[in-house]
Amino acid sequence: QADGDRQEQTTNERPVRRPSKLAIVGAGAVGSTMAYAALMRGAARSVALYDVNKAKVEAEALDLGHGIQFMQMAEVVGSDEIEVCADADIIMFTAGAKQKPGQSRLDLAEGTIGLVRKVLPQLVEVAPHAVYVMVTNPVDVVTYAALKISGLPSNQLFGSGTVLDSSRLRYLIGQYTGVAVQSVHGYIAGEHGDSELPLWSSASIGAVPLLEWEGQAGTGPLTQEVRDRIAHEVVESAYKIIEGKGATNYAIALAGSRIIEAVLKDEQNILPVSTLLENYYGIDDVCLSVPTIVGAHGAGARMRTPMSVDELAGLRASAVRLKAVARQFGF
Ligand code: LAC
Repeated sequence: QADGDRQEQTTNERPVRRPSKLAIVGAGAVGSTMAYAALMRGAARSVALYDVNKAKVEAEALDLGHGIQFMQMAEVVGSDEIEVCADADIIMFTAGAKQKPGQSRLDLAEGTIGLVRKVLPQLVEVAPHAVYVMVTNPVDVVTYAALKISGLPSNQLFGSGTVLDSSRLRYLIGQYTGVAVQSVHGYIAGEHGDSELPLWSSASIGAVPLLEWEGQAGTGPLTQEVRDRIAHEVVESAYKIIEGKGATNYAIALAGSRIIEAVLKDEQNILPVSTLLENYYGIDDVCLSVPTIVGAHGAGARMRTPMSVDELAGLRASAVRLKAVARQFGF
């Protein structure tokens, strides 16, 4: 092409958006499995793992990095320096004591709150705009304490709540009815713990209200007895798994990855996360789970989900129990 006709070479001026960054505090079984789940699902382009155990966190990051060829492109770093979390878009707080066999989640409160007091202010310093998701137990009380300690607004900091428990409920209903769990819809509300409750009255199997389900393939309706058994199995799930393998990690990590995607992709998805409730059916000033809109700004509207008289009573009982524990620790 003659010089005179040479087209001016234009450079691509498209502004390149900084890739989304996920930071995970705690490189234990839950934190490192959550990093793996998020990478496998392509939830974040950049993953930072923080843990006080330098050797462990660097090894976890390296082991994950060696697998990137088999996942969607991402970068993974691990450090015992809090700066590794700098400018994260979402921070998942998984560090803390593990439930021992037979121990309730509420028994872990003192240790975890102490850790949150120490680490959370440092995190907010380096990542003031991140959405914070508390995962460590007892997650509802820890979420409430973290809001008070950090001073962050109640959309920007919330807890993983009963996203996992709702998945267990749907799994057990799917097992009983023979219907794929993806076509079973329903929530566990309240405490992520012993006082949680299934919202049977709003659950459905496909488009059939669960309480009207007549059964198929050899199984009948979900009678009160069946529902009670399933509800009990949901509450006992973690205890049973901890007895067998010492901790739970896969399902909680996948539940965490679900929340990460809803935030980083601004999904506006409805998830039962643990948020600070204000005048929710008269429930105030406590963190527990109800179906909530989750997107880029964290926890949005808490859905006024229709509830039966018994369900509402159960939710209120959960609130009373959680408030009592929070008060025990001065919140
Ligand atoms: C469980 C833990 C995450 O329910 O509390 O598996």
